Amino acid sequence: MGNARLEYEGKSYEFPVVEGSEHEKGVDIAALRSKSGLITLDPGYGNSGSCRSAITFIDGDKGILRYRGYPIEEIAQTARFTEVAYLLIYGERPTAQQYAKWKDDLTRHTLLHEDMKKFFEGYPPSAHPMAIMAAMMASLSSFYPGNEDDKNLDVNIVRLLAKSKTIAAFAYKKSIGQPFVYPQNNLSWPANFLRMMFAVPSETYQVDPVLEEALNLLLILHADHEQNCSTSTARMVTSSGANLFAALSAGVCALWGPRHGGANEEVLQMLGEIRANGGNCKSFIDKVKKKEEGVKLMGFGHRVYKNFDPRAKLLKAAADGIFAKLGIHDPLLGLAKELEETALKDSYFVERKLYPNVDFYSGIIYRAMGIPTNMFTVMFVLGRLPGWIAHCRELRLDPENRISRPRQIYTGPKVRKWEGSVG
Ligand code: ACO
Repeated sequence: MGNARLEYEGKSYEFPVVEGSEHEKGVDIAALRSKSGLITLDPGYGNSGSCRSAITFIDGDKGILRYRGYPIEEIAQTARFTEVAYLLIYGERPTAQQYAKWKDDLTRHTLLHEDMKKFFEGYPPSAHPMAIMAAMMASLSSFYPGNEDDKNLDVNIVRLLAKSKTIAAFAYKKSIGQPFVYPQNNLSWPANFLRMMFAVPSETYQVDPVLEEALNLLLILHADHEQNCSTSTARMVTSSGANLFAALSAGVCALWGPRHGGANEEVLQMLGEIRANGGNCKSFIDKVKKKEEGVKLMGFGHRVYKNFDPRAKLLKAAADGIFAKLGIHDPLLGLAKELEETALKDSYFVERKLYPNVDFYSGIIYRAMGIPTNMFTVMFVLGRLPGWIAHCRELRLDPENRISRPRQIYTGPKVRKWEGSVG
């Protein structure tokens, strides 16, 4: 692939250029510091590749997203979430036999240890379900300690995929003061979750196939997105040798923020405020452009996509069908479309290549499904589990796996003398 040359203080250093399978190129600077004494400085890692990965390919300029080579648009048409999870984690689609076993495994591990239920009692009713999610996922490691050799890792993968939805539904039930509904294992992964969320012991509950299909799509579209903030966090924790439960709990915490997965919650709040103020999209956009304190067009912009986010396109297209099938008319959907249209015509957004991201339409669909706003980011967690797991597993098997430990440029005081004590 040739070399890249760095000239510095009269010396020349050569570094190999590496190429990925889709011809994206990078300079391998692993020997930079030992050769030259220099490090790189790249706050926010906008230019730094942290690893080689064979899981997901994104071309942000062209709006391309592929899981293990399969275009997201094709996957979204017919796949089941559990099959996509297998593909992401193990690299290939399962055979019919492997898939039957996988689904069986995923349904046999849905129950939580009864002692875990007591944890939920300790939270105040106002506790954010993301806080419960993060704590419970780390807590799973106390019930399933021990080495994560290959076989055990596979069992822990299944445990995480199966139990997280039970944790999520229990967190919701806790917040509304309803009794926990136990999993029912003849149901699909999404249907089982919906039942645990919405059923009550005093009534029969039939999972609406429209909701099941909508959730299946949402989960698939969130399943992986290469080295985003939460995935990089989960990989970083894995690099220290910590267990999978700990790594995913850290992923949950990283996803929580409004610049990342927390944006879906913020989008709904933003739309609600615009509506409450008379529904004037133009004046809201003007505020965004003026960069008024705390005003951003939530659900817009992306570090990687400088073209449409293909997931947002798919969700926008799906939204009308889902609303029609559910017989719901939500004025916020119309408002979101108007807001998108207004922004996309505006030079501020055009020049900065800001387009709707996956969070722009997902919240409106969750709302139509009856999922409360504070559960939106938890829904993102459930979708993203396979991606986090796939990345943590990939890193463990990677011969280049070292502890992640960036360097810094120190800007604090130079050495000074400590004398006495102030107190
Ligand atoms: N509204 C208004 N202006 C924006 C927005 C936005 N949503 N996003 C970016 N910009 C502006 C920035 O102010 C900046 O303008 P400037 O050049 O005048 O300073 C320019 O566009 C570039 O933006 P950066 O902040 O440098 O982009 P970065 O890649 O660091 O951030 C991010 C990406 C965090 C997603 C940002 O676009 C954002 O905050 N968006 C809103 C939150 C959101 O929707 N997050 C979900 C992302 S998708 C996901 O994680 C699942």
